[in-house]
Amino acid sequence: MEERKGFGTNFGFLMAAVGSAVGLGNIWGFPNKMGASGGFTFLIIYLILAVLCGFIVMLGELAIGRKTGKGAVEAYHVLSKKFKWMGWMGILSAFFILFFYCALGGYCIKYVVLNVGDLFGAGFGSNAMAAVADANGTSVGAEVFGAFLGNPTEAIIYGLIFVAITMIIVIGGIGGGIEKVCSVGMPALFVMLLICIIRACTLDGAVNGLKYMFVPGWAVANGVIDKAPDFLTVLATAGGQMFFSLSLGMGAMITYGSYLQKKENLQKNAILIIVMDTLVALMAGLCVIPGRFALDPDGTLGGPKLLFITMQNVFSRMGGLGPIFGILFYLLVVFAAVSSSISLLEVIVAHFVDKARDAGKGDKRKTYTLIAAACVGLGCILVCADALGSTGFAPGNLLGMTGELPTWAADWLDFWDMLSEGIMMPLGALLMSLMIGWEVGPEMVKEECEQSGHAMGSYGFFKICVKFITPLCMILILYGQIKEFFF
Ligand code: TRP
Repeated sequence: MEERKGFGTNFGFLMAAVGSAVGLGNIWGFPNKMGASGGFTFLIIYLILAVLCGFIVMLGELAIGRKTGKGAVEAYHVLSKKFKWMGWMGILSAFFILFFYCALGGYCIKYVVLNVGDLFGAGFGSNAMAAVADANGTSVGAEVFGAFLGNPTEAIIYGLIFVAITMIIVIGGIGGGIEKVCSVGMPALFVMLLICIIRACTLDGAVNGLKYMFVPGWAVANGVIDKAPDFLTVLATAGGQMFFSLSLGMGAMITYGSYLQKKENLQKNAILIIVMDTLVALMAGLCVIPGRFALDPDGTLGGPKLLFITMQNVFSRMGGLGPIFGILFYLLVVFAAVSSSISLLEVIVAHFVDKARDAGKGDKRKTYTLIAAACVGLGCILVCADALGSTGFAPGNLLGMTGELPTWAADWLDFWDMLSEGIMMPLGALLMSLMIGWEVGPEMVKEECEQSGHAMGSYGFFKICVKFITPLCMILILYGQIKEFFF
């Protein structure tokens, strides 16, 4: 039987796992939520939740994966009677996230191209839009994004290019594709981010961005937001952000854990992934938010519009070097998105490849990756064609809903996001902690952690959390997510 090949080095694993965690959520979610929810106070709540909940679920997933040496579906199947269906929920979540993630990844590629165009004064740059924007009384960023949304064919092409890149890397396998790309891509991303931070923080007026992010109450006192959210809302926002950002609750970390060698230290890796993800989220804030306050003070502070309107305005207004920073910035976002999407596709592919291998059919990675990518491509086309709900076949329209549509029904991107991030992932993480705490028993995680020969120092803490505290936090987060999406 063919051997199941995993990560060659711990560094490769770590970069891949951090790559999975660091994504669009870090760049447009974290800084904005931190600013709007009380700066440092939010950061501290985020970190506490990351310890009580993120660390526990992360360690649990890594241990489940490495113990069983299987993808999410088989892993749950082997371990549990009651929860054996949960791997399938993970695969479904992976598809749903990929549908919109690839569409957005495609948008990012488009913006790299756009800024290359600006650099050379070529027709595919945004320069030509300045006159249109002046005439319409809008901004260049708004014109560019509007024109792009108005041309779904172009969006579909870029989306499919993104799917193809993801597919090619996953076909390369763990060691040959994912590990290689992430070992180079993640350090490169870090350097690019540093350069962008230096530029952003030395702009005139950047200091307001820093105040927005870090000083508690600044956003309200200066009229950036109307009123401070209450404590429960902050808690739920921080929790939702934390666990989406760490890629938890849908089997991504189970899958990557299953490829990790027994001699590596799970506990240390879990901590490092969390620390690095948070660090990059903060760094992304230091780049994006000061830029917005310095050069586009009326711009949006989060979500797709921050990335595709506000930031493009920032680069368009930066003068001669603007396009260079634009290329650098959008390229780093593409890196962040690709390293996340490959882990999502791997969740799907790993299961089918394992099954084929166990049945003695050999490693059918290429075939299964092609099939999975084709399905993802279809979902991505739907999201791109919908162009953020501007074409009249939004989920709400198809469901016959009338009046003003709630966000989740107003466009396909938010619909898939609602199903995955809003419901399935928090539910997955909740059930996983219950499974480890009450069915399988936390000793399983201890045994697996100690395979490397290191004592599991956090076992006492882990045991209490996984049985009581983590499920409670997850119920709160699930409630917060549902409330945010539906009420
Ligand atoms: N963590 C990613 C981000 O911050 C998004 C994400 C959520 C993800 N779940 C995932 C990525 C699972 C890969 C696998 O943008």
